[in-house]
Amino acid sequence: MKTETGINDWIYAADEIDLKEGGMIPAYPLGVHILLARVDDSVYALSGKCIHMACPLYMGILKGDILTCPCHDWQYNIRTGEFLDAAELILEKYKLKSENGKLYILLTKEEPK
Ligand code: FES
Repeated sequence: MKTETGINDWIYAADEIDLKEGGMIPAYPLGVHILLARVDDSVYALSGKCIHMACPLYMGILKGDILTCPCHDWQYNIRTGEFLDAAELILEKYKLKSENGKLYILLTKEEPK
């Protein structure tokens, strides 16, 4: 019998209504710091910490699909997670699904059980 939620499960992250167009919010499913962003009515889930020095990205600026870190202005493509000055540096990107107005995240790259 399965009793605990793990990284191979879809985990509640946020209510859809809390994520406005062009907005960003943090989420902490299983304690993992995630950034949720909505651009052109698509929702993206990326690592919530900047690759540079781990500043919280939800406090940055989102203009179009470019996210600027609040600490030292590193910029990322919100759709891909790529750092604009060096595309090999990429924020972790997570799968999302929406059900009944709630967003669920998959923390592993594996398909859910
Ligand atoms: S911590 Fe993000 S640019 Fe320095």
